[in-house]
Amino acid sequence: MANIAIIVGSVRQNRQGIKVARWMEEKLKNRGHIIYFIDPLKLNLPLLDKMYKEITNPSENLKQLRNQIVEADGYMPITPEYNHSTSAAMKNTLDYFLEEYYFKPSAIVSYSVGGFGGVNAVQHLRLIFAELGAPSISSSFSISKVQDVFDDDGKLRDQLYEKRVLRFIEEFEWYIEAFKNQRGKGTPY
Ligand SMILES: Cc1cc2nc3c(=O)[nH]c(=O)nc-3n(C[C@H](O)[C@H](O)[C@H](O)COP(=O)(O)O)c2cc1C
Repeated sequence: MANIAIIVGSVRQNRQGIKVARWMEEKLKNRGHIIYFIDPLKLNLPLLDKMYKEITNPSENLKQLRNQIVEADGYMPITPEYNHSTSAAMKNTLDYFLEEYYFKPSAIVSYSVGGFGGVNAVQHLRLIFAELGAPSISSSFSISKVQDVFDDDGKLRDQLYEKRVLRFIEEFEWYIEAFKNQRGKGTPY
């Protein structure tokens, strides 16, 4: 059992991403994990001025977000692909923190309405999470034609994803446990 932060990457009206994020939340909960569901639409954070550590009087909203980032044993960003990269909402949310992520793994999920499932966004996010000190696991999970994979209520239509997701989650769990064991012995800085 681990604490996992799911980070939603879209704040658009009628966003496809919320279906992916809620589906992943259910899958992870079914395996006994505690989920922190981080949704920039609810958080409504301003475009970054100061990082959390520079803010003298952080809002309750932001304090709670920091606690979730600190308490998480792993991160699962759910990213759309906007112009071959991740979204501004994702990047803005992530940038509020740094040390809070250190020595914990990330598992990147992407999606798009086209045939490539947001793989370009994954490549950029890998670099970002490496810099955050939360390196991404080897596999990523990409969903192409996301509008066909889920129905309007967010129910999975394409059952092939059930098997694929299990393998992805098992790999993430392996990394979470490995990193947790090592953190228990201390961290280099
Ligand atoms: C600004 C913008 C840029 C986009 N760029 C890409 C792109 O580079 N590649 C792609 O496959 N889809 C692209 N799309 C289409 C998205 O895959 C599609 O809009 C998807 O639904 C976005 O996720 P969301 O609904 O959760 O925001 C773009 C969409 C937007 C709004």
